[in-house]
Amino acid sequence: MRNVVVSLLLTLGLLTACDASNSTTPFPNNQIDVPPLMTMPPMPLALDDTRFPIMPAAEAQYDTGRALYEQYCSSCHGLNGEGQQPDPLAFGMAPPHTDVGHTWHHPDQQNFQTVWTGRTVAGVMPSFATQLTPDEIIAVLAYIKTWWSQQSLTVQLERTEATMNNEGG
Ligand code: HEC
Repeated sequence: MRNVVVSLLLTLGLLTACDASNSTTPFPNNQIDVPPLMTMPPMPLALDDTRFPIMPAAEAQYDTGRALYEQYCSSCHGLNGEGQQPDPLAFGMAPPHTDVGHTWHHPDQQNFQTVWTGRTVAGVMPSFATQLTPDEIIAVLAYIKTWWSQQSLTVQLERTEATMNNEGG
């Protein structure tokens, strides 16, 4: 039954994505560099949702984010965010989530969207829209932020705030 529901959702996503003029995503492609995927589910959060900006995880959120990361992300991105071995920066590999990678170059909203919709620019980053709730994705991203330097956190916070203020404009 669960599989039927999931494939129904995927089919609905497919039909919705075909009608680009009727897109409900608050992340227009000219603002955030993510290709339109045929199965892209509509975004559940606005650019200025109160859950942005995401702070580095602490206490309960750290434990939740870590457990989810280790279950859903570490097989490709590495237990400590070191990326897919042996050459995580090579084309198509799952990139590092530490300062070495690009994750911190992107605003929270874009990283959220990557996890929600998936992305297949080079390699295959699966969509987690049917497996993780928005709050769980936020917890995973908050956990990833515990690997970033203060400098990366500062730069990335500015980009997230700029993206929050762009909404509707
Ligand atoms: C099956 C392997 C795989 C799994 C599992 C996976 N990823 Fe990825 N991820 C990738 C690949 C490959 C890319 C690069 C996609 C591309 O080519 O654009 C990527 C890209 C990303 C990016 C964009 C990084 C950037 O520099 O822009 C983020 C953020 C991300 N993944 C987060 C996650 C999180 C969080 C999870 C767990 C919930 C996860 N990924 C699970 C393979 C995976």
